[in-house]
Amino acid sequence: MSSLLLRNIKSLVQLSTSQTALSGKEMQTLEKLDKAWLLIENEKIAAFGNMDTCPKNADHIIDADGRMVFPSWCDSHTHLVFAGSREGEFVDRINGLSYEEIAQRGGGILNSAQRLQQTTEAELYDQALLRLEEVQSYGTGAIEIKSGYGLSTEAELKMLRVIRKLKENSRLQIKATFLGAHALPLAYKTNRAAYIQLLIEDMLPKIADEGLADYIDVFCEKVAFTVAETEQIMEAGARFGLKPKIHTNQFNSMGGIQAAVKHGAISVDHLEVINDEEIECLLQSDTIGTLLPSAPFFINDHYPPARKMLDAGMTIALATDFNPGSTPSGRMPFVLSLACIKMRMSPEEAINAATINGAFAMELGDQLGSISKGKIANLFITKPIPSIAFIPYAFGSNLVEKVILRGQII
Ligand code: NIG
Ligand code: FE
Repeated sequence: MSSLLLRNIKSLVQLSTSQTALSGKEMQTLEKLDKAWLLIENEKIAAFGNMDTCPKNADHIIDADGRMVFPSWCDSHTHLVFAGSREGEFVDRINGLSYEEIAQRGGGILNSAQRLQQTTEAELYDQALLRLEEVQSYGTGAIEIKSGYGLSTEAELKMLRVIRKLKENSRLQIKATFLGAHALPLAYKTNRAAYIQLLIEDMLPKIADEGLADYIDVFCEKVAFTVAETEQIMEAGARFGLKPKIHTNQFNSMGGIQAAVKHGAISVDHLEVINDEEIECLLQSDTIGTLLPSAPFFINDHYPPARKMLDAGMTIALATDFNPGSTPSGRMPFVLSLACIKMRMSPEEAINAATINGAFAMELGDQLGSISKGKIANLFITKPIPSIAFIPYAFGSNLVEKVILRGQII
């Protein structure tokens, strides 16, 4: 048994023991302990307390000396496995094209799919591993990664195998989501049903056979898949034990939220466009609303009405959406800054959304997302900082000094 003791912690932040994600007003409270110590044993949080009661011995001791300790960010929505980059479209947008116009021209997701099909599994893995190491340095300790740039059986399997290999080799906690319905491949333009059939009858059974996915996702949007198609895919996923996490309401409100709730979705993600009826539908459900503000930042669109959602009592998580098209960044602290600046979330609400609620949005809330006895010791030590609000305030700085994953200093 090996033990690691952190002592002289200025503030031990986020001590929630909640068994469910936090909603509405609950998100305003962020529990912390000042002048604290924390003991890690066998990869788990064993105990913590006030410095008056600090244990004397441990195999390793770190003096945190004025630094704060946070649980790792739980980034519950990313597309971190992809090939190459799309800065050409970035320039097209500067010149006046919209994200949707680029997609309609066969750019966007289809552009990434073409690159991915030409990239070997080993090369994809190497690219993804570098990104994973980068997000780890910003404090991320759990992450969901989607497929969806394959769009053929072979290429979707290739992506999911890369995610599996990342799971095997990384100390981060990783969940995999099958997003075969990310965009309709050009070859199926006049026969949508045939692609859905391929997804349901060929991709899904093979993915299930290899146990490659934890969740199923659909991009339910005018530029992608209809509500009826989304329902059909969610039903098929359920037959293989895959719960939905659904991309919806990024550009249009068309019934995706109601459909996802009906099928017991863990989360509905994006929600830049949402009406009162849809907020009400989410309030009556256990489905988490996951907001991805670096996407509207990057494509210069409007932000989700987070204040309205929180004041109504909704459960909100924050994630990066790291992907080559709408968010080429996996930087959680920047997401927190955007949440505070552009969506008027308080630092406490933003931190709850990025930790405990993000964990529940990956069904990891019992293991991660807060400093709580028995949880996995994924956390980070900050640089010396004056207060909690300094994290979203200092939006360009990386304030993470040391990362600890499963009890090990990285
Ligand atoms: O969540 N909206 C759909 N999927 C991604 C974008 C993917 C891409 O442009 O490559 C998103 O924003
Ligand atoms: Fe996404």
